[in-house]
Amino acid sequence: MCGIVAYIGRRPALPVLLEGLKRLEYRGYDSAGLAVLNGGLKVAKAVGRVAVLEDLVNRQGGFDATMGVAHTRWATHGGVTEKNAHPHRDDATLGHGVVVIHNGIIENYATLKRYLEEKGHVFTSETDTEVLAHLIGELYRGDLERAVQSALREVTGAYAIAVMCAKEPDVMVVARKGSPLMVGVGKDEYVVASDSSAIVAHTTQAITLDDYTVARITRDSFRTTTVDNVPVTAEIRELEYDLGQIDLGAFDHYMLKEIHEQPNALRLCMKGRLDLRSGQIVLGGVSEFARELARAKRVIFVGQGTALHAGMVAEYLMEDLAKIPTDVDFASEFRYRNPMVEEGTVVVAISQSGETADTLAALQEAKQRGALALGLVNVVGSSISRETDAGVYLRVGPEIGVASTKAFLGQVCVATMLAAFVGRRRFLSADAVRELMEQMERVPSHIERILAQSEEIKRATARYVERDNWLFLGRGYNYPVALEGALKLKEISYIHAEGMPAAEMKHGPIALIDEGMPVVFVATRNSQYEKILSNIEEVRSRGGHVIAVATEGDEEIRRHVQEVFWVPDVPEPLQPLLTVVPLQLLAYHAALMRGRDVDKPRNLAKSVTVE
Ligand code: AGP
Repeated sequence: MCGIVAYIGRRPALPVLLEGLKRLEYRGYDSAGLAVLNGGLKVAKAVGRVAVLEDLVNRQGGFDATMGVAHTRWATHGGVTEKNAHPHRDDATLGHGVVVIHNGIIENYATLKRYLEEKGHVFTSETDTEVLAHLIGELYRGDLERAVQSALREVTGAYAIAVMCAKEPDVMVVARKGSPLMVGVGKDEYVVASDSSAIVAHTTQAITLDDYTVARITRDSFRTTTVDNVPVTAEIRELEYDLGQIDLGAFDHYMLKEIHEQPNALRLCMKGRLDLRSGQIVLGGVSEFARELARAKRVIFVGQGTALHAGMVAEYLMEDLAKIPTDVDFASEFRYRNPMVEEGTVVVAISQSGETADTLAALQEAKQRGALALGLVNVVGSSISRETDAGVYLRVGPEIGVASTKAFLGQVCVATMLAAFVGRRRFLSADAVRELMEQMERVPSHIERILAQSEEIKRATARYVERDNWLFLGRGYNYPVALEGALKLKEISYIHAEGMPAAEMKHGPIALIDEGMPVVFVATRNSQYEKILSNIEEVRSRGGHVIAVATEGDEEIRRHVQEVFWVPDVPEPLQPLLTVVPLQLLAYHAALMRGRDVDKPRNLAKSVTVE
């Protein structure tokens, strides 16, 4: 999604803006721009990476100022062009030197644009953001804060904005609704950003704005109001972030770093939450709802992409361990299908970023219908986490790579603990939970053994990396893992891959099998092992080549397949925590072999904050 960085203080603004944009690069974008205010407005925009913008600014010169705004754009309205890049300005003749950067979507921009064109406004871009800049200019009567409030009252949609005006060289106005925005509070300076990674280098004291909040900032003052100019208080909190966590270290890519971080990430995720002595799972974030959860009539997990796949594992876990009827749905489908949410329903939103627009909206829809709304989220203080009644943070640390890896494991790990937490209050004995916890505590070291196979996985991947169509198959707990493996391969290598239940092959997709086609089976020893062997034979007899993720020591499967990636034996509910790891490495190696940008795959963004 788009990235926002703004600065007002007494230091040079340009280094803060450029360094902040580089911190946000992982979120995905296609163009960048900035504006500084020092007597007059100075604007620069460029298609491509932040480095292109930096080079342009350094060549042009004249960007010395202590106040400015900067933006990375992920196109929603209008193509990837310099004209459509932010910042956007109000009308060249009717305007007042207003400049705006924006993350989100102005849904009624076309109506507003017609209204402004009738008043003589001339537009230079195809964007909704430029319409907002012109609207603020149109409503400007000498007070930028009031003009922004008036304009936002006319707007429908989502926004996180930072606004400056040449006529008010000491004032910056920022506001948000539905898109994240936080204000870092330094000494006589403020750093505004859409993500804390652009703030922590300057301060760890930050204010996360609530929806419909407008902040008027000067070098030594800060005021928050609603869009109706009603004063509201803003709470400063400590940002849980350190730059060391978001630096690349010795790894070539964030994705590889985060794959290898998974053992420690899971240790952090479980830390303090597995009380082996009492046989209790300790989840402080949901403890006040323990009785309501134990009496729940139905649980619904919602999410998108990888988070949805974690929700599919969670569906099996909740029914197995807590014996509660459970569903899982794309958040985008749930929110619009007029869902049945009866008494005793719990809706659980799963999200790494906590900013996915569809997941946030699905949660709000569920709350509106009376559900207890929980969140399994990684980013503390994110929109989804603030919308929930309660929740459990993943605590796997910042995930920078666009392809989600350690966050998936965190989501599945927390879902496992949540299901056991509820199950213990229903039918699970302390001994059963203790046994599960003992097994969970061994998972990080199991993952370390799988990671040691990376070169072997790379060799096997090289045999098939030129093939343009792959299948990923699994049963039971391993079916969502098959989907996740397919998504990983698709999104970073651009190879077409499809995941499905292994039994589904016979109902059509088996027609795809041709000589040498790579078919990945997640085929660990579990309740459906014999059936998956049959499915493997169905593929082999038609010329398909099988790559299996299998349980260490399973000599049987070796006779049926071309390649095997081994995982230690664990109880079925814990198998997804292991079987996904070889597939993450397969996708990583395939992407490199195909020359892809692993951490910033084309067309993708780290957090999809628009519908
Ligand atoms: C995962 O590799 C993808 N980048 C994507 O599917 C992601 O999982 C999805 O957009 C949901 O994001 P969230 O977990 O931040 O809500």
